[in-house]
Amino acid sequence: MAERTYIMVKPDGVDRGLVGEVIKRFENKGFQLLALELQKPSREHLEKHYSDLSAKPFFAGLINYMTSGPVVRNLLMITYDNAIQLRKKQTPLEVAMVWQGKGVVKAGRVLLGETNPLASLPGTIRGDFAIDVGRNICHGSDSVESAEKEIALWFPNGVLSHKRVTDSLIY
Ligand code: PPS
Repeated sequence: MAERTYIMVKPDGVDRGLVGEVIKRFENKGFQLLALELQKPSREHLEKHYSDLSAKPFFAGLINYMTSGPVVRNLLMITYDNAIQLRKKQTPLEVAMVWQGKGVVKAGRVLLGETNPLASLPGTIRGDFAIDVGRNICHGSDSVESAEKEIALWFPNGVLSHKRVTDSLIY
């Protein structure tokens, strides 16, 4: 099977309208889009996606960031001691994608830039659009093995594959 990677636009990237920018860069390079879905993942789903990082000091902050989103509802809550609290209900939105192509895992991470956007060169997505590691717009699988695991987690019903006519112009 041709190499595939899992690319995700995180809530800040979705909210800032950068989904098209990410897609454009992968398409311009010549990679093939196999799947794309706007998803509202649960906290448990994100904890599974980032399970390798659960012992890291930034884990809680990372999960909070990934479950952040536009406030869709203000909820009035009555607590056990009868106090009334206003709680905000947020909707995290991630754009989950699968891209295919020769060397797409490594090349995809080059297109994204360094994890820390301040260390990312201009011309990369994070180098052009982000500053903070905790708001770095996008995620890309770090190996072929983790790509296949992540694709299975985010697209449990599978992903279509098809041969492009344009492959003969790129390879
Ligand atoms: S590590 O420590 O080397 O395993 O981490 P690293 O590979 O650099 O990053 C793994 C993912 O954790 C995110 N990350 C952070 N998020 C929030 N705050 C801080 N301080 C932070 N440091 C790292 C980083 O963006 C990576 O997420 P993905 O989604 O893979 O880009």
